[in-house]
Amino acid sequence: MSERVGHVVLIGMMGSGKTTIGAAVAERLGRPFLDSDWQVEMHTGRTVRQIFESDGEAAFRRLESEALLEALSGRDPAVIAAAGGVVLDAGNRVALASAGTVVHLMAAPEILAQRVGTDDHRPMLGDQPEVVLRRLEAERGGIYAALADIVIDVGNSGVDEIVDEIVGELVGAQP
Ligand code: S3P
Repeated sequence: MSERVGHVVLIGMMGSGKTTIGAAVAERLGRPFLDSDWQVEMHTGRTVRQIFESDGEAAFRRLESEALLEALSGRDPAVIAAAGGVVLDAGNRVALASAGTVVHLMAAPEILAQRVGTDDHRPMLGDQPEVVLRRLEAERGGIYAALADIVIDVGNSGVDEIVDEIVGELVGAQP
């Protein structure tokens, strides 16, 4: 049985492991891996934090939409880590709905807060990550759920276990 055709796109909150898990799934599937934050940083030569601080969130959102749509337009099936906020844009949601398989990595805000650490590409978290993550979860949880073909609880499992689960679901999803 072969895996489903199309991109595999990982969505979910900051700290859910989209980049780490996405890279491992890509390796397992022998596919290219793309990360929308990396694409933005590569195209602009600036970090996510620099863009937020100098140009503001709206400017960053435009750049991340461009990066996402460019990644989704690639012809070779890839694994794509889509930054947490891409789902806020209606055009991005339409594009995601026909991109392939959307995988929502899910965990409770208190677990995400422990994982985000001091990562510098998340200026929105400020000095109270858990409070911000709770608010974002309330705003976005329903959107992630509506877009997801597959939901993976990443709260209590290690990377290898999660990758096994995703790859198993991808193969199982094949008609
Ligand atoms: C954001 C998520 C971050 C980054 C930016 C904003 C968000 O990416 O794009 O800090 O709004 O959820 P990750 O989801 O890769 O952490």
